Amino acid sequence: MKVLVVGSGGREHAIVNALARSPQRPEILAAPGNPGIAALARCVPVGVDDLDGLVALAREEQVGLVVIGPEAPLVAGLADRLAEAGIAHFGPTAAAAQLEGSKAFAKEIMASAGVPTAQWAEVETVDAGMEAIDGRYPTVIKFDGLAAGKGVVVAPDEPTARAALVEMLEERRFGAGTVVVEEFLDGEELSLFAICDGERAVPMVPAQDYKRIFDGDEGPNTGGMGAYSPVPGAPDSDAVVAAIHQPVVDLLRERGTPFHGVLYAGLMLTDEGPQVIEFNVRFGDPETQVVLPRLRSDLLETLFAATRPGGLAATTMEFDDNWAVTVVLASGGYPASSSSGDVISGLDSAAATGAEVIHAGTARADDGAIVTAGGRVLNVTALGADPAAARDRAYAAADLIQFDRRQLRRDIAQRAVERVST
Ligand code: AMP
Ligand code: GLY
Repeated sequence: MKVLVVGSGGREHAIVNALARSPQRPEILAAPGNPGIAALARCVPVGVDDLDGLVALAREEQVGLVVIGPEAPLVAGLADRLAEAGIAHFGPTAAAAQLEGSKAFAKEIMASAGVPTAQWAEVETVDAGMEAIDGRYPTVIKFDGLAAGKGVVVAPDEPTARAALVEMLEERRFGAGTVVVEEFLDGEELSLFAICDGERAVPMVPAQDYKRIFDGDEGPNTGGMGAYSPVPGAPDSDAVVAAIHQPVVDLLRERGTPFHGVLYAGLMLTDEGPQVIEFNVRFGDPETQVVLPRLRSDLLETLFAATRPGGLAATTMEFDDNWAVTVVLASGGYPASSSSGDVISGLDSAAATGAEVIHAGTARADDGAIVTAGGRVLNVTALGADPAAARDRAYAAADLIQFDRRQLRRDIAQRAVERVST
């Protein structure tokens, strides 16, 4: 089968690596892909926002399955367009993708489905926002639209909250849109993906990611600086899916907009049980880089089964017991900005250690060198029998890779290492 993977980041590279392990030996295309993906797939220069171009490519190449990586084309309706063209695809329709595209929509669905989440209010002005906060700090302020993981501010006090509201509502840092003011949830975060076939949600394995740029969870939020899986002390995944993912899948089906694809719950493990921080309608980045390397069954079979109503009943997913750790190497200036064109060395030596070197924001320069081309540049994933072994391997490989103003956190998976050794 020919498979087209849409996207160009670390998540898509990890998906391509997992598809390449399929016993079905698919021929893989990527649009637009990246220099790492190019080792396993034919990269075609069609951007993720070019829906016409993507549908035409899938049609011309007679692709058997399109796997849509990022949220933007899903929210824009790529799945709907592929459905019209009769092309099988993994990823929800625009209607179902509103779960990620609009925080207000997600909140309404959760309320209707009885899924636990923080109290919230949608506001359009700074004054309304301050009124909704009503002196309760910390509080959480979220831009109601796509903002690449940067549209969320956890405000410890009034000046920070006001500044965030002004930036989002008056200065329009992320464009026009409303803001959701949300109750602060205290606890530890957990990411759990469930593959959904319109009827059933089937859990993958839990992961934890690191959102802040600096060690010790300091500094601004990023797209994610590292992750590990499994997560010691995480609640049973079947129970979480029964309480969180399945009611949403049931409700969307009842409403005539069934969810096919991966439903990713970002959870806070509070004293009262898991509560949803956000839903995403695609694989998480960098969690995918630790979840998929643990998958022992055929990813292609699972993704294809999810395209048919009830299709997952005929398949099972199997994960191995190894731990996986991924470390993100980011470029200078990230997350406020990023640096491009810095030459990267040591990629082959890092891969020679057995680690999975995943390209996230790289490009090939005219002279053939691999250079930085984005905020998050590479992810280095390693497996091990315990968290310390996986972590040590990931860092040993990551440290063989060098580029100017490289940034990485040194404490990825530290929490798991401490918990498993004590
Ligand atoms: P989001 O983009 O909604 O996942 O938010 C980004 C990050 O902000 C989350 O991973 C949390 O660390 C933090 N966050 C978001 N909402 C809340 C909340 N209600 N309480 C505490 N922290 C939150
Ligand atoms: N890991 C965060 C995200 O993919 O949104």
